[in-house]
Amino acid sequence: MTANTITFVSLAETTTFGIMIGRTARPGDIITLTGNMGAGKTTLTQAIGLGLMVPEEHYITSPTFSLLHEYPGRIPLYHMDLYRLADEEEIEALGFEDYLYGDGLCVIEWPERLGSLMPEDRLNIDLSFVSENSRRANLTGHSDSWRERILALTNIATK
Ligand SMILES: Nc1ncnc2c1ncn2[C@@H]1O[C@H](COP(=O)(O)OP(=O)(O)OP(=O)(O)O)[C@@H](O)[C@H]1O
Ligand SMILES: [Mg+2]
Repeated sequence: MTANTITFVSLAETTTFGIMIGRTARPGDIITLTGNMGAGKTTLTQAIGLGLMVPEEHYITSPTFSLLHEYPGRIPLYHMDLYRLADEEEIEALGFEDYLYGDGLCVIEWPERLGSLMPEDRLNIDLSFVSENSRRANLTGHSDSWRERILALTNIATK
């Protein structure tokens, strides 16, 4: 297990970690969430929303009919679930790049669908199922800045 791997033994631990991400998020940050169905991508996004102080009445769910939901918070949260994305042209037509490089935090489920539009500078969190209430998170920073921030995030999370 590498230093960038964290195990959440309960939903509460996943929530604590997500809140920490939300509290420290900066405008323009991009976080991609990979992992199978049910791995906890949307659940982690909800916790990030808590950390961003998204008001409770804006309950974060997977955008079923739209690929993107925007929530107000300390900074805006742009939540994308690209599972149903057909092709790159569809995403370009929707103007997604404006969100990617916008003034909020962009959290993207199923980022594989972005193909060549995958942003360079991002944090990827790969979630995997361990047992009913336990999940493993493998963090990869795709920039020096994210690599530094991962150290802080994982230090706190494993204390
Ligand atoms: N430690 C944990 N962390 C995250 N989710 C957990 C944990 N323990 C149990 N769960 C449950 O696992 C489920 C994760 O579902 P979720 O919708 O977040 O997955 P997802 O990765 O977004 O799936 P999809 O690809 O279908 O969008 C939820 O029902 C959640 O309550
Ligand atoms: Mg989901």
